Amino acid sequence: TSGARVLVTGGAGFIGSHTVEALLADGAQVRVLDNLSSGKESNLPLGETSLELIEGDITDRRVVEVAMRDVTHCLHLAAQVSVIRSVEDPVHSASQNILGPVTLLQAAKEQGLEKFVYASSAAVYGDPESLPLAETARLAPLSPYGLEKQVDEQYAALFASLHGVKSLGMRYFNVYGPRQDPASPYAGVISKFVDLLSKNEAPTVFGDGGQTRDFVYVKDVARANVAALFSDHVGVCNVATGATINLLELLDTLRDVLDSDAQAKHVDGRSDDIRHSCGDASRLKSWLGFEPEWTLAAGLQALAAAS
Ligand code: UD1
Repeated sequence: TSGARVLVTGGAGFIGSHTVEALLADGAQVRVLDNLSSGKESNLPLGETSLELIEGDITDRRVVEVAMRDVTHCLHLAAQVSVIRSVEDPVHSASQNILGPVTLLQAAKEQGLEKFVYASSAAVYGDPESLPLAETARLAPLSPYGLEKQVDEQYAALFASLHGVKSLGMRYFNVYGPRQDPASPYAGVISKFVDLLSKNEAPTVFGDGGQTRDFVYVKDVARANVAALFSDHVGVCNVATGATINLLELLDTLRDVLDSDAQAKHVDGRSDDIRHSCGDASRLKSWLGFEPEWTLAAGLQALAAAS
């Protein structure tokens, strides 16, 4: 990592800021490009001399050209991050989530980057036919957001064959941890439940609570991103643990961690909800030598302590 000059778009956001910390700890020079629409300056250690912040938008070609200058590697995380907003305003969402990556890929090609790593999502799979989901599973996204990520993967593959741009798309499963704002449009169930239980308020469970998810701690995701930047592997890769928990078990664990006895309210299930999700983590392990360091219990403890 030392000698690497890494551009992190969306570096002031939830996954981005943790990855920036990991890169700085490894001795990289980091430049963040962020429009601060959902990211925050306060997420970044801005006093560090190895860190620079450019405030600007990924769809602005001139800004991206400047941000890419002298860079050796790029991690592209900046996005319109809300699935719901992608349904309500698919034009804005496509502009950020398709034109954004295409702008970055073109700049990556011109800069001759060593590696381009970008955020994809488990949303590309839609409702799984069988579990765990391997990268070879059928793609059937259920939202504009998921479709945008699928299109991004296709663009990245095309830039590889047309121009030799080496890229790896990270299909994140359910990421949780500090700095995921419970009030934000992309807040996951864990940040919402931790927020409510720590105030001793009742969380809402959609449906019977038997839904299962593959939760990945954000510091593990940050390590996977760093490994991806410096690996020779190209294509797409799940970022998952391969283990799942259902929402009722999650609530039990959280009540223990937070010493709360708040009971959940059950309401009707979300019509767009997926019942079970679990990622096959074998490619993550074989390609990136990656094993999660954080058990769910440890991650929830750390999140509770930071909240
Ligand atoms: C997640 C991603 C989404 C992606 C999708 C694709 C997050 C925040 N979202 O959605 O970007 O498109 O995977 O696989 O990671 N729930 C409750 N009560 C609440 C909130 C949620 O019961 O207050 C339930 C939901 O109904 C769902 C589960 O918790 O069954 C997880 O919900 P959520 O954290 O929103 O993530 P996903 O729906 O899995």
